Amino acid sequence: MTLQTLIVERHGAVTLIRLNRPEALNALNGQLMDELTATLDETEADASVRCVVITGSDRAFAAGADIKEMASKSYADVFTEDFITANWERVTRCRKPVIAAVAGYALGGGCELAMMCDFIIAADNARFGQPEINLGVIPGAGGTQRLTRFVGKSKAMDMVLTARMMNAEEANQCGLVSRVVPLADLISTAMEAAQKIAALSPNSVMIAKELVGAAYEAPLSQGVKMERRLFHSLFAFDDQKEGMAAFVEKRPAKFTGK
Ligand code: CAA
Repeated sequence: MTLQTLIVERHGAVTLIRLNRPEALNALNGQLMDELTATLDETEADASVRCVVITGSDRAFAAGADIKEMASKSYADVFTEDFITANWERVTRCRKPVIAAVAGYALGGGCELAMMCDFIIAADNARFGQPEINLGVIPGAGGTQRLTRFVGKSKAMDMVLTARMMNAEEANQCGLVSRVVPLADLISTAMEAAQKIAALSPNSVMIAKELVGAAYEAPLSQGVKMERRLFHSLFAFDDQKEGMAAFVEKRPAKFTGK
C-alpha cells in the first residue's frame, strides 16, 4: 500500500508511525485509519519489529475524527459501514507494545487513539480533550469509557460535558500520561523507551502488556490469578534462564525470544 497520510520510519526493531495530514491537524479520516490499520497489520506480522511509536506533528497529534468527512453522514451510513469499529481499533489488538508520543492537540478521536495505545508520553505543549459535545455528538471511539478509567469520573465528566481541554501538566497529574518532556525531546524520549522495550525478551513484554491491559477489564482476583499463571509460563522460555543467569553473572542479557 502506498501511504499518503502516514510517514513510517524503521529504526532498528522499532517502527515509528507519524500521522501526516498537516493541512487538517492530522484529523483522522477513513484513508488515514485504513493506512494505520494496514501498517499495524504489517508491524504485527514482522517478527523483527518489537515496538511501535505513533506520533503526529509538533502542532497536533490529531485534532479528532475528520469533521468534514463525517458531517454529511446519515445514521444508515455510519451503521452500515460500522464507523469506528471497522478500522479504528486495530491498535487495541496489537500484541506488541504501542507508545503514543503526543505533542499539541489530541482531541476527540485523537485523544481516543492515544488512549488506545499502551502508554502516552506527552510533550509540554500537549492538550487533551473530548470536545465532541460541541458538535452535537459524543465521543465515539471509547472516550467516555477509557478517559473515565484513566482520570476518574469527575474529570472525565468535566471534559466530556464542557469540552474543556487538559494541558500536559494536568494530564500528568491525573495519570492520563506516563510522563511529560520538553517538546524538543518528545521523539527521542519515546524512541528511547521503545528501544529499551525492543531489546527485552519479546515473550515477557507481550505477556506483561496483556496483563496490565487485563487490569482494566478483569476483576482484581481474576487478574492476579491470570498474572500468576502467565508468570509461571515464562519459566518455559530460554529467555528466563538467560535473563536471570545474566544478572547473576553480572553481564548484559542476550534475549532470543525462545
Ligand atoms: N476535522 C477536519 N478538519 C479539521 C479538524 C477536524 N477534526 N480539526 C482541524 N481541522 C482543520 C480546520 O478545519 C482547518 O482547515 P482549513 O485551514 O481548511 O480551514 C485546519 O485543520 C487548521 O485548523 P484551525 O484553523 O481550526 O486551527 P486552530 O489553531 O485555529 O484551532 C483546534 C485548532 C482548536 C484544534 C480546532 O481546529 C478544532 O477545534 N478542531 C476540531 C476539534 C474537534 O472538535 N475534534 C473532535 C472531532 S469529532 C470526533 O473525534 C468523534 C469521535 O470521537 C470519533
